[in-house]
Amino acid sequence: MQETFTLTVNGVEHQITADPDTSLLSVLRNELGLMGSRYGCGLGMCGACFVLLKGKPVSSCDTPMWSAAGGEVTTVEGLGTEDALHPVQQAFLDEQAAQCGYCTSGILVSAAALLAENPTPDEDQVAAALDRNLCRCGVHDRVVRAVVRASR
Ligand code: FES
Ligand code: FES
Repeated sequence: MQETFTLTVNGVEHQITADPDTSLLSVLRNELGLMGSRYGCGLGMCGACFVLLKGKPVSSCDTPMWSAAGGEVTTVEGLGTEDALHPVQQAFLDEQAAQCGYCTSGILVSAAALLAENPTPDEDQVAAALDRNLCRCGVHDRVVRAVVRASR
């Protein structure tokens, strides 16, 4: 049975009517048109769908609406502002830290969470923070360089 949930996404409050077990990722993509968060494994294991929920990176593919309701969500679209990219988004461009880009949104979300908590991480701390984000193209070295660059 469908229920109506309040969800704040990138600073905008929405009323969402959905089955409570609908994934947050489905709502973001299909109801709100925010296509930046990607569907990879659907099992919470690849990081492609990561968003910030109450400031923490979570896999939106296996977060049901009943658990996200009332929360504040930030997607990759909400990391920067209308006028400026988030520093880590700019650093990804500068370091050319994406190949196919499928994993990139989730990595940016995890990296932004890390930098909010630790503004000057070293490479080991970056690698540890991105441990749950898989990249099949293997651009890990550039990704780590980009996150360190964003912290300067
Ligand atoms: S699609 Fe959500 S973690 Fe892989
Ligand atoms: S850039 Fe292709 S999966 Fe990471």
